Amino acid sequence: MERTFLMVKPDGVERGLIGQVISRLENKGFRMVAMKMLRISEELAREQYAEHAGKPFFDEMLSFMTSGPVVAMVWEGRGVIQSVRRLMGATDPAQAAPGTIRGDMGTSISRNVVHGSDSPAAAEREIKLFFDSGEILA
Ligand code: CDP
Ligand code: MG
Repeated sequence: MERTFLMVKPDGVERGLIGQVISRLENKGFRMVAMKMLRISEELAREQYAEHAGKPFFDEMLSFMTSGPVVAMVWEGRGVIQSVRRLMGATDPAQAAPGTIRGDMGTSISRNVVHGSDSPAAAEREIKLFFDSGEILA
C-alpha cells in the first residue's frame, strides 16, 4: 500500500489547524499510520528541504520551519501521494484553489500550513527521515 509523509508546519500548529488537516485526509478515506509532534532541528530541516538549498527563500524557510513545533505524519492509501498533493493545493495559497488546505487556510507562500511528499522517492526519503520503522503502526 502506498504511503506518504505529511507535516503540519509551525503556522498550522500555532493557529490550531492540526485537527482540520487530519480531518480532510480522514474524510477522503486515507489511514494515518504514524504521527508525532516535534520541534525540528536546523539539521533536519536542511535535510528535508535539501533540494531547495541555495534558493533565495531557503534561509528564511529554515528559520520558520524550526521556529515552533510541527506535526509529522505517515498516511497510507491507494494513490495517497498525488491525492494528498491535490488536497493540499498549490504552493502559494493565493493561487491554491478554494477547497484545498492551502487555498482555505494558507496565509502566504512561506506560511502555507502543510508539507506533503511530491513523489514516491520523496515519500520514502521523508518517512525515513522522521520515523523509525517501528513507529509506523500498519
Ligand atoms: O511545498 P511544495 O512542494 O508545494 O513547494 P516547493 O516548491 O517544494 O517549496 C517548498 C516550500 O518552500 C514551500 O512549501 C514554501 O513553504 C517554501 N517556499 C517559500 O517560502 N518561498 C518560495 N518562493 C517558494 C517556496
Ligand atoms: Mg516540494
